[in-house]
Amino acid sequence: MCGIIGILGKGPVAGRILDALKRLEYRGYDSAGIATITEGAIDRRRASGKLVNLKTLLGSEPLAGDIGIGHTRWATHGPPIEKNAHPHATERVAVVHNGIIENFAELRQELVGFGRVFQSDTDTEVIAHLLTHLLDQGRDAESAMAEMMSRLDGAFAFCALVKDRPDLLLAARQGSAVAIGLGDGESFIGSDAVGLAPLTRRVVYLEEGDWAAVRRDGVTIHARDGQVVDRPVTLTEVSDAEVGKGNYRHFMEKEIHEQPEVIGDTLGYYYNPIRRRIVLPPLPFRIAGVPRITIIAAGTSFYAGMLAKYWLERIGRLSVEVDIASEFRYRQPEMSPGGVSLFISQSGETLDTLEALRYARSQGQIIVSLVNVPDSSMAREADLCLRTYAGPEIGVASTKAFTTQLTVLACLTLHLAREHGKLSTDEMARYAEQLIRLPALAAETLELADDMRAIAEEIAPCRDVLYLGRGASYPIAMEGALKLKEISYIHAEGYAAGEMKHGPIALITDGVPVIVIAPSDELFHKTAANLQEVLARGGRAIVLTDTEGAAKLKGTKARVFTVPKAEPLVAPILFTIPIQLMAYSVAVARGNDVDQPRNLAKSVTVE
Ligand code: G6P
Repeated sequence: MCGIIGILGKGPVAGRILDALKRLEYRGYDSAGIATITEGAIDRRRASGKLVNLKTLLGSEPLAGDIGIGHTRWATHGPPIEKNAHPHATERVAVVHNGIIENFAELRQELVGFGRVFQSDTDTEVIAHLLTHLLDQGRDAESAMAEMMSRLDGAFAFCALVKDRPDLLLAARQGSAVAIGLGDGESFIGSDAVGLAPLTRRVVYLEEGDWAAVRRDGVTIHARDGQVVDRPVTLTEVSDAEVGKGNYRHFMEKEIHEQPEVIGDTLGYYYNPIRRRIVLPPLPFRIAGVPRITIIAAGTSFYAGMLAKYWLERIGRLSVEVDIASEFRYRQPEMSPGGVSLFISQSGETLDTLEALRYARSQGQIIVSLVNVPDSSMAREADLCLRTYAGPEIGVASTKAFTTQLTVLACLTLHLAREHGKLSTDEMARYAEQLIRLPALAAETLELADDMRAIAEEIAPCRDVLYLGRGASYPIAMEGALKLKEISYIHAEGYAAGEMKHGPIALITDGVPVIVIAPSDELFHKTAANLQEVLARGGRAIVLTDTEGAAKLKGTKARVFTVPKAEPLVAPILFTIPIQLMAYSVAVARGNDVDQPRNLAKSVTVE
């Protein structure tokens, strides 16, 4: 969601802010803007739509100044038009903000009472006016900021500049991440380390409730109670070079094709080839004493959790619950003492998942997170953080993050099953052998790209698409439907194949594409029966199966595509690849913005 950048530079900053905003584009946005202090006044440029519009505007109306803030806005309060684009400014203050100020209506009313005049429909503007109001009362910038922090409710991050203080940027974190970059006589502020990567690798992350006074020569951080605190300086792993499209047309295409490599990288951290077994970092619990594992996530990460439940129950004989973060956190469920809660998130910042983590912590749960972004909030707030090594994922629709999540979850399953006494040394070695074949099998599966492009041409004009799968293929069917709707805007539903007769079968008429995910496992013949029901009603069945399954389906009217034959543990990871390729090609065929689909954000930092 909204991207924030601030630069205290040695020379003009507008161009550098624009470049940094470009790196935050992946978060999703619909307008953008930059403000600087120039000749003792605040000057700003804002434009609706993509950054190219802002760039054009800056071309005709350049912005001078060596201190500035910039923003990509994902609309919450007020439509994505220029007057609602950030920075919001008064005569003394400009601000860029991510998240929601929940008490903005009361604050706005109060500030209007003091004669302040608002220009936009946003909640953000109250920050600019409140800070101005406090400065007008004679406070200095730091004490005005401290006072303001006690007045703002909600989950947010923001960065502000004050006209009379060209040496200072103010930043705050209460729910959404803020990274402060330390340079050589320069300082930077960003929503994440990806935005800051070309500027500096030395980063300090604000913690919940912190606010910071950032100067060119360093930063002073205040905790919620006002005390000055030290936060560690970390060297970010995000490198500038990693974020490019290479020879691919879109980031999503590149990220799909990176999967063999990043799955291999990820396995490298969890597989010990000498002992032929999976090795995880020391666990902060003994599985024998854990009554239940609760998995919580959102979006694609939730489907990874769904699949992990199948594995942990089946292979580990463990009791597992899986829940959507946004539902879980408000149900306030009882949690068994000594339970383990596992939070899965590419970004490590999704607000609902992060708040669910904090709720679980308050219930005495042992917290494990599985994230792709190192140093993210969920990485830092867990008792144990497991990492995926997918590298930065820029395409809004998640691909390589998902398959690397599944890779780690498969490793976790084997490790816990072994600790739980449900897996012999030999069985562990057999499963581990299956996993290490995964990168090669994934590379082979990518050869389906041309077939998926061809079938995409047929799907592109359709209105509805159904995805069916049983057992471990059910979460993959859900993920397939999500991928398609996210980037092609075609209505798609994922269903457990056995549930088809309880509703979705009514949707099947002549020519409705039904994508059936059917590896030749123990449930194959059941799914094959559902396939016949689809064909009997004129559905256009497209089956993803393996060589064995394809042989069994010879002679059916369905279009059959063959994924390399793999063991049940790794098959769902492979079957994910053609559904990603298919969704990608449909979106391209429809001429959509694949990497930044409308209305979507990469990291959802509001509720
Ligand atoms: C957004 C993204 C999805 C992602 C979901 C959860 O909706 O567009 O691709 O799956 O958030 O994000 P997380 O970072 O927590 O995995």
